[in-house]
Amino acid sequence: MEFRGAHILSVDQFDRADIEALFAVADDLRAYAARMRVTRVLQGAILSNMFFEPSTRTRISFGSAFNLLGGEVRETTEVKASSLAKGESLEDTARVLSGYSDVIVMRHPEAGSVAEFAQASRVPVINAGDGPNEHPSQALLDLYTIAQEMAGRGKGIDGLRIALVGDLRYGRAVHSLCKLLALYERIDYHLVSPPDLDAPAEIVQSLLRRGHRAAAYHDLEPGIHDVDILYVTRTQEERFASQAQANRYRGLFRLNQAIYTEHCQPNTVIMHPLPRDSRSAARELDADLNENPNLAIFRQTDNGVIVRMAIFALVLDVAGAVHDHAQPVTWYTAKRTPA
Ligand code: NCD
Repeated sequence: MEFRGAHILSVDQFDRADIEALFAVADDLRAYAARMRVTRVLQGAILSNMFFEPSTRTRISFGSAFNLLGGEVRETTEVKASSLAKGESLEDTARVLSGYSDVIVMRHPEAGSVAEFAQASRVPVINAGDGPNEHPSQALLDLYTIAQEMAGRGKGIDGLRIALVGDLRYGRAVHSLCKLLALYERIDYHLVSPPDLDAPAEIVQSLLRRGHRAAAYHDLEPGIHDVDILYVTRTQEERFASQAQANRYRGLFRLNQAIYTEHCQPNTVIMHPLPRDSRSAARELDADLNENPNLAIFRQTDNGVIVRMAIFALVLDVAGAVHDHAQPVTWYTAKRTPA
């Protein structure tokens, strides 16, 4: 695909060469994310960061990524703080914001809403999560992390065995990651969820059609044997019709160190898009795994900044100019080694 000026709405846009191009740019930007160098390549550019659903890492990391390239960030974080609350259409909001910005990042609770918004925008729009549908930048940072973790174990992505655990029905990070991994060869998907929260049939069918293996498990333990990656997710409680319905799934699958030791191969990488639900009744990923060196969740979040910098650099077509605008860091920083 041509990244320059493109909307990034779905992982369906990418092929393997696109991913490799993006990851090469991400590698090239690591020193800036680690505060070893500063670049002002996007000086004067404005990002509108529009988050109409809760977010910590996606919003801050998109904003930080843009700042790290030298650009400015304008944010709206609630529908009630925007004119959508006055009945303005998404299209009109897009027409207005695209006059104020060079690129727009948007999260919205409805599937398809970001694509609808993008149609009326004159500047590139990046989907930061549209309801239960997709979360392409999360899948890219997850895949980037998987590639690194596997490289550290002398392996690649082809032939990967991955268990996706939890709410596979509503988890948009899972949907995008499953589709993105399908660009590789011989992926073995263990789809581990409560019976009513299975991955959407059309996604599973498309994985099988492409020659991958995908098996559903409705119990945790048998699903997490013999995998390279364990990708745990939270129940997406905000997607259920009522809290009472969501509560039925709380705490059903809980990974902790004892279960990991008993059922997983010793080197299995543990991932989670975060936030993990740390309330005592939930805890799908127990804090007793924090000292486990295979826990990659904070390597994932660090990679989020790097991968989002790469997205901006490609979409705004400055990837080749980043180093021309580089300077040494002048302030005290503890982050001198690339993450
Ligand atoms: C995910 C999301 O919003 O889909 N979070 C994130 O962006 N890292 C996963 C989640 O909320 O459970």
